[in-house]
Amino acid sequence: MSIKIGVLTGGGDCPGLNPAIKWVVKTALDSRLSKERDVTFEVVGIREGWRGIAAIDARSQADVSQYIVPLDEEIVRTWDRYGGTNLGTSRFNPFTPKDDRSKQLIANLKLLKISCLVVIGGEDTLGVAYKLSAMGIKVVGIPKTIDKDLEGTDYTLGFESAVQIITEEIDRLRTTAGSHKRIFVVETMGRNAGWLALEGGESSGSYIILIPEYDFEIDRINALLLEGRAKGARYDIVVASEGAKPKGGKEVIRKQGQDGFGHVFLGGVGEFLANEIERGTGLETRSISLSHLQRGGSPCAYDRRMGRYFGIAAIDLIVKEEFNSMVSYRNGRITAVPLEEAIGKIRIVDVKTHYDTERYNGRRTLLR
Ligand code: F6P
Repeated sequence: MSIKIGVLTGGGDCPGLNPAIKWVVKTALDSRLSKERDVTFEVVGIREGWRGIAAIDARSQADVSQYIVPLDEEIVRTWDRYGGTNLGTSRFNPFTPKDDRSKQLIANLKLLKISCLVVIGGEDTLGVAYKLSAMGIKVVGIPKTIDKDLEGTDYTLGFESAVQIITEEIDRLRTTAGSHKRIFVVETMGRNAGWLALEGGESSGSYIILIPEYDFEIDRINALLLEGRAKGARYDIVVASEGAKPKGGKEVIRKQGQDGFGHVFLGGVGEFLANEIERGTGLETRSISLSHLQRGGSPCAYDRRMGRYFGIAAIDLIVKEEFNSMVSYRNGRITAVPLEEAIGKIRIVDVKTHYDTERYNGRRTLLR
């Protein structure tokens, strides 16, 4: 029996996707494992996420070769070293009410004889996978997002690479901030979850960390900064998550509108804070948004390893016919959860256990 697997990456790219694709392919095509399992697989890559399978006409050969690519062990041999996704990605939503492509997507899968999908994505992409599974498609999910905001798993691919980048960039900022005795506000991504700002801020030893889960008061920030200066600080680093907002205020957005999954375009809180801080303290303040740098470059060692484990586990789930599930990392172990557990809500920072609301930083008492 041979099963044709389609693998795709959807949503924002990040380091860790290519290692996961590589290990899906290597594990599926491993001849020794095939004998043990009494099943053989064929793997094709689907380019540009859901768009690659939903927007094409599978009867036309031109479309197919543009979006569907056969993968083998030789092709993916070096992929674990590379960032981004070699399959490409998109924020295409096949269930967009005004242009629903889900039926075409299912018809294309049948025409292409793809009998199951490995879907590597965050809440939006896996939400589509969940809807498709209710329509009879066999899917297995792999969690990824630098935001680490997926329910059902303690880790999502890309997060540690992004934290590493934040840490390195802040190390770089410290020398120039110190030379000029400036305050730097560093804006991180993360949408409505503060994990990136919190763990990036902790890793880099930042003085103030602002997260979406706890609304800040500008007077408190300024008081903390002046207190630090009085104690001898020459410069300061303030990390602000793009979703952080002032008490009683709103999130800062960089442009009007929403993406295909209804998300607003966050951005600009760093600049807003820098102005408020300079006005309130009289200290020279600059801001920088790390923006897509946080998703760039090659995967850190941890994302290469986790991509490997998640890719292998996805094939394990297919062999065991545990569809409609997502690979998960829980309490130090690779496991799986029903897809349903990962979607519909996001995992945010628990302020009580992780955040110091007086210092606006990570907690200094961790055991309870
Ligand atoms: O979800 C990942 C993420 O990087 C968010 O942190 C950020 O808000 C968003 O994607 C940016 O999306 P885009 O790449 O479409 O600008």
